[in-house]
Amino acid sequence: METSFWLERWKNGEIGFHRDSFNPALEAHWEKLEVESPTTVFVPLCGKSRDMEWLARRGYQVVGVELSQLAIDAFMESQQLKPVQRQQDGFIVKSAGPYEIWCGDLFALPDQCMESVSAVYDRASLVALPPHLQCQYADWLKTKLPDTPALIISLAYNQSEMKGPPFSIPEVRVRELLGDHYALKILASDDVIDDNAALIKRGLTGLHETVYLARRIS
Ligand SMILES: C[S@@+](CC[C@H](N)C(=O)[O-])C[C@H]1O[C@@H](n2cnc3c(N)ncnc32)[C@H](O)[C@@H]1O
Repeated sequence: METSFWLERWKNGEIGFHRDSFNPALEAHWEKLEVESPTTVFVPLCGKSRDMEWLARRGYQVVGVELSQLAIDAFMESQQLKPVQRQQDGFIVKSAGPYEIWCGDLFALPDQCMESVSAVYDRASLVALPPHLQCQYADWLKTKLPDTPALIISLAYNQSEMKGPPFSIPEVRVRELLGDHYALKILASDDVIDDNAALIKRGLTGLHETVYLARRIS
């Protein structure tokens, strides 16, 4: 999507993807990554997700990236934190407590930002991106964090019922994008349409959330 699409959504408060509670899939499955704390978890396209708080409460440092300054400020405010701000490599970086959130385009992140990352927590990144950026995102992960295990939460539905975003990312697409590099284990797959009134309004009759554990093929 154009950067402006997401910035407008944040400006207009059109953020139906945001959850006010921790993601149950994160709570249920995170430990299967077997990543010890204190280490750093990278959260791509992080929005103002409270899942970052969940990770921080378990002792992790959290590095996020997000296009919208509004989202980052809202997150810091929700944590009652006053971040320190610096400019680095064309990004505004806001840090406070266990959090360091880079404001800008994931694809422009400097490698240095991922230096100490030991795990990735990705909820709804692929579904936020149109097909050509889905490929770019998959390549980015495989190149920049090749050995890092990831918990990936994605959505699939009948794409003829609605235009994205969120785009439908069925298992076959996840495997096409990531299966050459990662062993992908499905940890859960649930119908979550009833929790998504806004998407029902947009015409969806079914919505599947699938949780993947991704580890580099050895
Ligand atoms: C579907 S939302 C998911 C947010 C978050 N992961 C969550 O679970 O609430 C996608 C987010 O990615 C951000 N975004 C989209 N493209 C991006 C990019 N290229 N770089 C950084 N952030 C991006 C959007 O502003 C939006 O907040």
